Amino acid sequence: MNLHAPPRFTTEIAPPTEEGIAKAKDLLLSGQLVAVPTETVYGLAGLSEQDQTLRHIFETKGRPQTNPLIIHVHKKIRSLDDLSDSGIINQKLMSQDAFSVANQLIQLYWPGPLTLILPKGRAISSVATAGGETVAVRQSSHPIFQKLLISLDKPLAAPSANRTNRISPTSAQDVFDELGGKIPLIIDGGTCAVGLESTVIQVDANGSLIELRSGGLPTDVLLRQGFRFSKSILKSPPSENHPLLAPGQLPIHYSPEKPLLLIFPPEITPQNLKSLIEKKLSISITSKPKIATIRFHSEMVEWWEKTHSLMPQWTWINFDASILNDPLVAAKELFSLMRAADRSDADLILVERPLSKASLWPAVLDRLSRASRQ
Ligand code: TXA
Ligand code: MG
Repeated sequence: MNLHAPPRFTTEIAPPTEEGIAKAKDLLLSGQLVAVPTETVYGLAGLSEQDQTLRHIFETKGRPQTNPLIIHVHKKIRSLDDLSDSGIINQKLMSQDAFSVANQLIQLYWPGPLTLILPKGRAISSVATAGGETVAVRQSSHPIFQKLLISLDKPLAAPSANRTNRISPTSAQDVFDELGGKIPLIIDGGTCAVGLESTVIQVDANGSLIELRSGGLPTDVLLRQGFRFSKSILKSPPSENHPLLAPGQLPIHYSPEKPLLLIFPPEITPQNLKSLIEKKLSISITSKPKIATIRFHSEMVEWWEKTHSLMPQWTWINFDASILNDPLVAAKELFSLMRAADRSDADLILVERPLSKASLWPAVLDRLSRASRQ
């Protein structure tokens, strides 16, 4: 018998009632893990003050111990001073510019889909930060998660409630599909409103922002608000000699099981697409594959129709009925569409590359690019 095997559970999906929240609280206080709804994606929560619980989070996700966790705080925390008083951060290690900019970000965007990377305080275990000197902190706006945090009056460590490298869950059922049997309880808070993970931001000593992960708080919103971005690290991908500032930036992530091909319709002829797909699937010209498609722009609909008509033997299954041209809806639906396409009997998922730099389109493209590098 493997003594280190995690315990197995009959996973309960509980409604977000007083009773459900009380049950979650008891489980958490006894060191167990509970999946919770947030406005971005569901989180796998555990008490951040217990090293054993933190280790259990890594184990349950199959996550390498080198990839740090986000600490979630309740809404009574309104500033860096509050975070410092709770021992979560050490503001003495921040420059005046970084301090002032980080405080502005908190005032403007918390609670919400923004995670800040700050100097770690005395109350934060190095297990949570993967041995690093910084801690990721977020204040979710989800009312159910907030109720739970307030009733505990303790911060919770919570990564996304998926198995490592897989698609983040945006519903209680998604969590069940990922972690059923591995955790005792999932609180059902409905479908996540944002649908993509939080934006992860570090503020440099000059008060410029470094975006470590694009996400629910769009870059163009921050630019319009007058925040400056540091140029040096923004575009450089992680490499062996470049420290991995956010392991979420790893090139492969959010992977469906089926091959996913990301294409830009105007730049590719239907004939080229045919050979690309045949190559990706290692099939011959005579095969008749089933293709799941996810489109984003109505301007391309004609191109798609032409493509379908050129390959009449192939089966085309569309998964994009409601998302065309709307970045907020596209972000909200993206992961569940990818899951649905992955569950279908299609051989390949073919996705149109969103082009716009506005709103949540860059974050949608970021997730798709990683998903396509299987
Ligand atoms: O929206 C979200 O952020 C969700 C919900 C549940 O809150 N959480 C989430 O957690 O996406 P996770 O663990 O899946 O992603 C956290 C990201 C990872 O890319 C991790 O590498 C990065 O934040 N991160 C955590 N601590 C860090 C640190 N100290 N420095 C740099 N990056 C850090
Ligand atoms: Mg994650």
